Amino acid sequence: MNRPYVIIVSEVTVDGKLTLYRGASSKELMTLMDQEAYRYLHEIRAKVDGIMVGCETVRTDNPSLTVRYVEGKNPIRIIPCSTANVPLDANIFSPDAKTIIVTTKRAPEERIRKIRDKGAEIIFAGEDLVDFEELLPILYSRGINSLMVEGGSSINWEFIRRGFVDEVRLIHLPVIVGGENVPTLVGGEGFKSLKNVMNLRLRSHFKRGHQLITEWEVIR
Ligand SMILES: NC(=O)c1ccc[n+]([C@@H]2O[C@H](COP(=O)([O-])OP(=O)(O)OC[C@H]3O[C@@H](n4cnc5c(N)ncnc54)[C@H](OP(=O)(O)O)[C@@H]3O)[C@@H](O)[C@H]2O)c1
Repeated sequence: MNRPYVIIVSEVTVDGKLTLYRGASSKELMTLMDQEAYRYLHEIRAKVDGIMVGCETVRTDNPSLTVRYVEGKNPIRIIPCSTANVPLDANIFSPDAKTIIVTTKRAPEERIRKIRDKGAEIIFAGEDLVDFEELLPILYSRGINSLMVEGGSSINWEFIRRGFVDEVRLIHLPVIVGGENVPTLVGGEGFKSLKNVMNLRLRSHFKRGHQLITEWEVIR
């Protein structure tokens, strides 16, 4: 396998939503999580080499993507951002961990320069949007053997539709949010046929604090 082992990890409501409404930070929903759930999340972060969220999640949630609830090393933060349109004061530029912004030829040079000045590395992969087929072997060749993908729904779909996912781990939040346009675990066009859907096998389920955790293996 010429790519990292990929685990999608997400907090989802009972109806599969990632946040309260389109454009809302999921941080509000995450206030429902207790310390044990955060520890579970951060244990995974401490074990992987890299962590990825989409550029929209950086703009909306401003996550740090570091390990804070357990002891352990921070993974390398990898952000696909086709025009490098990421706020320069974003938490992902904190000095706690290395950060890679993955971008395309569409990114203006001035933005690239400012991001490099923040200490982040730039990788070019793709013409229009970030090309994950090109990117994953590059990450693998740099020693990123395991990658945690923490959303949002667009990035999750991009990985899933290409068969680049090995596991899905979910922290279930005991609420229903509703709303047709609210981002769910996986966005995009969808597979539309049973023949093409991604099949999963439940590997384990348990409680951490008040949350149900389910861990799924992808069946090929
Ligand atoms: N509950 C949770 O665990 C959780 C976790 C993460 C996020 N969220 C929520 O999810 C929402 C954001 O999800 P989202 O689906 O809107 O955005 P997203 O998946 O975080 O990011 C999508 C963005 O990535 C960039 N991108 C670069 N290459 C791409 C490619 N090949 N394909 C697709 N996108 C590419 C695009 O931005 P550019 O045009 O700038 O390149 C695109 O808009 C937020 O509300 C956030 O709070 C929830």
